[in-house]
Amino acid sequence: MYDFGYDIADFYDIQDEYGTMEDFEELVTKANELDIKIILDFVPNHGSNESIWFEEALKGHEKYYNYFVWEDGVVDENGNLQPPNNWVSVFRKSAWEYRKEVGKYYLHQFVIGQPDLNYRNPDVVEEMKNVIRFWLDKGVAGFRVDAIAHLFEVDKKKYGGKYPDEPLSGYDSDPDNYNYLKHIYTEDQDETYDMIYQWREVLDEYKSKDGFTRVMMTEAYTSPQNMIRYMGNGDRKGAQMPFNFFLISDVNGESTAAEVKYATDKFLTFKPIDTPSNWVAGNHDQSRVASRLSPELVDGVNMIITLFPGVGITYMGEEIGMVDGFVSWEDTIDPSGCNTDDPINYWKTSRDPERTPFQWNADKNAGFSTADKTWLPVAEGFETLNVNVQRQMDRSHLNVYKALVKLRSNPVFRHGRYESVALNTDIFAFRRWHNEEIYVGVINLRNQSYTVDLSYFENVTGDLDVVISSTLSPKTVGTIVQAESLEVVGMESLVLKLK
Ligand code: GLC
Repeated sequence: MYDFGYDIADFYDIQDEYGTMEDFEELVTKANELDIKIILDFVPNHGSNESIWFEEALKGHEKYYNYFVWEDGVVDENGNLQPPNNWVSVFRKSAWEYRKEVGKYYLHQFVIGQPDLNYRNPDVVEEMKNVIRFWLDKGVAGFRVDAIAHLFEVDKKKYGGKYPDEPLSGYDSDPDNYNYLKHIYTEDQDETYDMIYQWREVLDEYKSKDGFTRVMMTEAYTSPQNMIRYMGNGDRKGAQMPFNFFLISDVNGESTAAEVKYATDKFLTFKPIDTPSNWVAGNHDQSRVASRLSPELVDGVNMIITLFPGVGITYMGEEIGMVDGFVSWEDTIDPSGCNTDDPINYWKTSRDPERTPFQWNADKNAGFSTADKTWLPVAEGFETLNVNVQRQMDRSHLNVYKALVKLRSNPVFRHGRYESVALNTDIFAFRRWHNEEIYVGVINLRNQSYTVDLSYFENVTGDLDVVISSTLSPKTVGTIVQAESLEVVGMESLVLKLK
């Protein structure tokens, strides 16, 4: 629990805090009865320093010693032993940790408790394929593949048997920070893509038996060109969904409509024509949409996630517009916050704020738990921002989200074409169309009213029906508006349908 489940001590079991194997099997069975598919987070890059594998490695058991990435330290001018090179952990400070049992340093690109696995060892490759098979045999429908860009390190044989220093990025002056270096030897290595194709072959073994697709979603903050490499290469297939993170990495509260267009066009521009796109605006590592952008843009962002072509991915709580919770320095538990050693600025990197309990109602712990204390405090304001309240409101983030999900099953959104435009600095608009049907989405990113002309879009003219309007919009569903002169109030988001 150094990284709350991302430091796996036994890849073939369930951690006590999360339940038992029987609980898990029951979950899969019940979900399948409801036609809900369960996918698991597969964390291939690293294990745990409290695993049997690591313990055996420290005892000198050669098979398991070779599961990890070991390197000799270097002796400095004062005779002190120092880490092998300048590599830093994603969570700050050296990515190397010394173990006197073996007299070497091991690599951990994340916390000290997460030793990297050595994918240049065929035993590790086989073991991790067996992990995939183990959970597929339990009935899961696929995997979200964690931190995939980190899987391989450069082949040190090509560098005289020593891992080389990474070059400085030039834009961060603190050598302990991950951004201090350009990660040319620890991220996005060519071999990583091949491993994804191998895993896809394992998934497809299962599909060939029963006809059901097993899905792979890869987590990598990288260029669109690299994202696409995860999808496949020639005859070899890869992940169906390399997470499209540009709404997170390239969009903030100040972004203009043109910047939103640029960010949303990236993946669409590079992806192969016959594969679906996907849309992600939040996850458990990123400040929430309401806090990162604005509470008033929650509905607009959910419109993008659900009505753009392809797969929509929603992090729990984003459908009701949850905000980042306040977690004091004392209560902070995320290593990404704690490793800053900075009681003032820790919250900028801590991921605790977006991990606070889901807000069901105004009861104790927002209805999330009956325990006296939850592992993170419930976010302020849960008494009014919760599912129960939003269910009863005429218009709420939740009801807008539900309407969007319903609309999404329409052929226009399933099969229709897509285009987008920045109508001015602040207004982003998109059109979806299929056969005779046309829908237009309009999102005002600023607190300023505009009158816009939607006839920029081909065949969009005259009367349009308001199909969905954002929570604070003055327009109600069913209102008729004019394409040539649509008045959009500050922060309003709308879905319109050509009459
Ligand atoms: C991924 C996860 C993150 C975790 C890290 C290390 O980025 O999303 O939560 O800390 O990998 O496993």
